[in-house]
Amino acid sequence: MAEISRVVVVGAGTMGSQIALQTALAGRYRVALVDSASVQLERARDQNGKLIARSVERGRVSDADGKAALARIEISADLEGAARDADLVVEAVFEDLDVKRDIFKRVDSVAPQQAILASNSSTIAISRLAEVTRRADRCCNMHFFHPVTVMQLCEVVRGPETSDATIEAAMEFVRGIGRIPVLLNKEVWGFIVNRILFAASEEALRLYEGGYATFGDIDTAVKKGLNWPMGPFELMDFSGLDIYVGAMEDRRKLGEGVAPPDVLKKKVAAGELGRKSGKGFYEYPGFKS
Ligand SMILES: NC(=O)c1ccc[n+]([C@@H]2O[C@H](COP(=O)([O-])OP(=O)(O)OC[C@H]3O[C@@H](n4cnc5c(N)ncnc54)[C@H](O)[C@@H]3O)[C@@H](O)[C@H]2O)c1
Repeated sequence: MAEISRVVVVGAGTMGSQIALQTALAGRYRVALVDSASVQLERARDQNGKLIARSVERGRVSDADGKAALARIEISADLEGAARDADLVVEAVFEDLDVKRDIFKRVDSVAPQQAILASNSSTIAISRLAEVTRRADRCCNMHFFHPVTVMQLCEVVRGPETSDATIEAAMEFVRGIGRIPVLLNKEVWGFIVNRILFAASEEALRLYEGGYATFGDIDTAVKKGLNWPMGPFELMDFSGLDIYVGAMEDRRKLGEGVAPPDVLKKKVAAGELGRKSGKGFYEYPGFKS
């Protein structure tokens, strides 16, 4: 498989903007960041500029390297134009199967034959996207974590038709941008991290709903006894309780997992979504958007 040098990131939101920045910081890739919304492209450029300024202030990157990384990211609304000479396309658009399938189809029709198509989806297995392309052997999941410039992990997932060469190139790329890849040999809901996170969160909710302990004490137990930086309730508030309910419902549709507990459903119905709404299990007066 040819060496990866030109990387196209599709979707300039929370994840895509930072995947592009992390790639550009490596210094050895040409990067294009594509979005259908020009306001998102402008926002990504602005936020990446601020992230670099902060990193320069803190001495994590030199002013020259920071500026060079920003300059290395070409922003574009033209997906087909950007993908035409791609070696790797990382899709990070909305978590919507149809939107993602449309991107995969369009990219497949113009990208060079050897190009790899990866999806950053948290829940959509690569086989559902690879099937609309003519290169299922060159498709994989590449699941980064938020915020990408801080979180080191990337879960690389092999679909039923993904080739060894694709997996090797994907793992090598993740290392090349200073991130740590782990490989899932088979598709499974939630990959590794979210399966373990949901198992712990569901147990924490059962203990709380059963009246065994307060959510505060459960968080303290997990932080002080397991050395987690955040307790499960803090983490649920941080990510959004609606996200948890949605993920649990989606998992049920696959015939596994448990139904969202009443306490979560009631909070979501009351608009208590966690940090983003100012209240979840805890209160966040300063965070209300
Ligand atoms: N946010 C997280 O914490 C997180 C973590 C890991 C993985 N993910 C996954 O990453 C993906 C993106 O999530 P996000 O939080 O960055 O979303 P986001 O809503 O912040 O950004 C999505 C971007 O996709 C763009 N987009 C939508 N349709 C498009 C199209 N047809 N062509 C080009 N651009 C299009 C939107 O304009 C938007 O800028 C999702 O699949 C999500 O599951 C998210």
